Amino acid sequence: MARLRALHQPRGRREQQALLLEGTHLVQEVLKRSLEPALLLATPAWCEAHPELLAALPAATVLRTAVPEVLDAAASTRSPDGVLLELPAACLPEPRREADPPDFVLALDRLQDPGNLGTLLRTALAAGVEEVWLADGADPLQPKVVRASSGAVLALPVVRLDGDGLGQRLRAARQRGRQVVATVVPGPGAAGAVPYWQLDWSAPTVLLLGNEGAGLGAALAAEADRQVTIPHSPLVESLNVAVAAAPLLLERWRRRQAP
Ligand SMILES: C[S@@+](CC[C@H](N)C(=O)[O-])C[C@H]1O[C@@H](n2cnc3c(N)ncnc32)[C@H](O)[C@@H]1O
Repeated sequence: MARLRALHQPRGRREQQALLLEGTHLVQEVLKRSLEPALLLATPAWCEAHPELLAALPAATVLRTAVPEVLDAAASTRSPDGVLLELPAACLPEPRREADPPDFVLALDRLQDPGNLGTLLRTALAAGVEEVWLADGADPLQPKVVRASSGAVLALPVVRLDGDGLGQRLRAARQRGRQVVATVVPGPGAAGAVPYWQLDWSAPTVLLLGNEGAGLGAALAAEADRQVTIPHSPLVESLNVAVAAAPLLLERWRRRQAP
């Protein structure tokens, strides 16, 4: 169990090159994507209730049963739903080469809150984002992010960088014809920004969102060649970053569905 508990921490995940998934929904997501967990640990009650999931496990997955107390001790949540999975990091999708960036990328500057990051990954996958570039901030493989992403982290390639590394990638993406779009909150700082519905979303795009408190760092903002804003009432200064991402990312999807 100590080995599974170690996966709650970045060091454990780094050393074991694995991540911990908790709950039936994530088991379903793993099987849907034909990934090969190293271990499934479940209570006897969970095994009895989910014979179809057990039958779908790859032959290489080790199946262990344990009483709820043991499972609770290995889990990072209070109610892990009777099942845990250990997934090798090698199962996660590979990002594209820097020299060949995809057509729709979400880039995030120092996202701190695991719930926000997971929600952003989920929305990004729903909106057709092909890759996520992260400058510092929360670890996308920590259990809270994986849960909040509802499994999107299993499908969406994520590149982790520092601020300079992201700046360099944005520059390279611009040189390869991608528009780099900074998001800015309404107000005096948004003088050069257009409402998001006026952006040409058909162009290959890197959309850049900022930290929950500080917003987008000046050095990264300077790498953008467009600015968009979501206009709203001045009674609030800004939207939650994960809330702001939804209309922005889904606008591109909406246009693609329009006749
Ligand atoms: C909570 S806001 C940061 C507020 C910060 N005080 C500032 O001035 O940027 C976090 C991020 O959400 C996005 N965001 C929030 N509200 C937005 C809006 N109305 N339009 C565009 N982006 C927004 C931006 O990416 C912003 O950097």
